[in-house]
Amino acid sequence: MKDKIVYICQSCGNQSTKWLGRCNECGTWGSFVEEVIKSPSSKIKGTTIKKADTVKLGSINSEKEYRLKSGIPELDRVLGGGIIPGSLVLVGGDPGIGKSTLMLQMCGGLKSYNPLYVTGEESLEQIRYRSQRLDNMSDDLLLLAETNIEQINYVIKSENCNVAVVDSIQAVYSDRIDSAPGSVVQVRECASLLMQTAKQTGKSIFIIGHVTKEGIIAGPKLLEHMVDTVLQFEGEKNYTYRILRAAKNRFGSTNEIGIFEMDNSGLKEVKNPSEIFLAHRNNEASGIAIVAALEGTRPLLLEVQALVTPSYYGMPQRTVNGYDLRRIQMLLAVLEKRLGLRFSQHDVFVNVAGGLYLEDTSADLGISAALVSSLRDKPIDTKTVFIGEIGLTGEVRSVPALEQRINEAQKLGFNKIILPNIGSKKNLNLKDINMVQVERLSLAINEFIEEKM
Ligand code: TYD
Ligand code: MG
Repeated sequence: MKDKIVYICQSCGNQSTKWLGRCNECGTWGSFVEEVIKSPSSKIKGTTIKKADTVKLGSINSEKEYRLKSGIPELDRVLGGGIIPGSLVLVGGDPGIGKSTLMLQMCGGLKSYNPLYVTGEESLEQIRYRSQRLDNMSDDLLLLAETNIEQINYVIKSENCNVAVVDSIQAVYSDRIDSAPGSVVQVRECASLLMQTAKQTGKSIFIIGHVTKEGIIAGPKLLEHMVDTVLQFEGEKNYTYRILRAAKNRFGSTNEIGIFEMDNSGLKEVKNPSEIFLAHRNNEASGIAIVAALEGTRPLLLEVQALVTPSYYGMPQRTVNGYDLRRIQMLLAVLEKRLGLRFSQHDVFVNVAGGLYLEDTSADLGISAALVSSLRDKPIDTKTVFIGEIGLTGEVRSVPALEQRINEAQKLGFNKIILPNIGSKKNLNLKDINMVQVERLSLAINEFIEEKM
């Protein structure tokens, strides 16, 4: 078999036999790079294929799902309860966000499983220097400074380790491929080799991947399909906290988030995230409402902000950070049609404080309240929390896990909750908290604005 030349789009992984100026899959210009795929060294001809053994589903031992505990409960939770042996996990994030730190700390917590840390980016001295800043590190941690994937693979297989970290997938390369480390074919080849090793040996392998400008892990999306779990490590530049979320998880939910704070001795878990998100509160201003969202299984109280200002241009602007823009447009339409409020001559800005992206529609009610509060310049009482989804007729709809959200609000000292009608069947433990059940958005708004909607 001869070596094959293919052209591969570096942004989406699309292959072509000819060079193209513009990728016909993702539309990126000038992204095609020539790659030479060497013929596999083992000749297909001489090898004889043996029949592989099949097994019966019921004969597979499934007594108890076994997971390794990383010693970092937030990380375990995002993984779905711990590390599954033999799994391949991709940890993606911007450079400098703390991926290496998180993985080193995880190795520290996994002492008894004899972890191996492969560094292709930093020298052994740099790792040593960094680990001195972290608590909980063990002098027995196995390190390897190497970028050749065949070599790394060999060490992972031969060392007596249960967990290995490869930092990073963009720094390693395979001898079988000519192109530069970090290119699509290299990344794919290296990841598939590690995948095989993880499945064959039952060792869990973590791969660190940098996110490109476009926010896609390792350039192409293709790595996401190969691995069992994709963890994304995110953060806002202006804050010290970091959010770990599972973008894909074969062994758990993808809704869980883990919240960490970076200080000078590494990443610390944040036990009570609502307190951080509510920390910098400006009490007196209009356009601010507190919502009780649910991130995964955990309730999270957040501040949503709206600013509604007269528009001096033909087209009023709608700018949204941290919530679905189309959802905001829907809320504005409901406010216009059902409550007779006029936003068409106003620019609207909506922001979820703290840099979080909210997918939970239970914030609808709070955001609508913030919009009206800003439009009328009437501040909302700072001890009020809003929970509820808004329907097109202006009805306030119920949302899951109301009890948890209410308990969180109570724990943080809020004394009024505006929420959907839940009837009297729920036996909530409520003292000193005023529960206002509303069926319609207009009634919720009347709670802080005197004029009748
Ligand atoms: P790092 O883990 O190297 O990021 P990545 O591997 O994602 O590129 O984290 C680097 C940043 O974290 C760097 O800006 C320094 C900061 N940092 C701390 O603030 N405290 C610490 O204890 C450590 C180890 C790093
Ligand atoms: Mg790093």
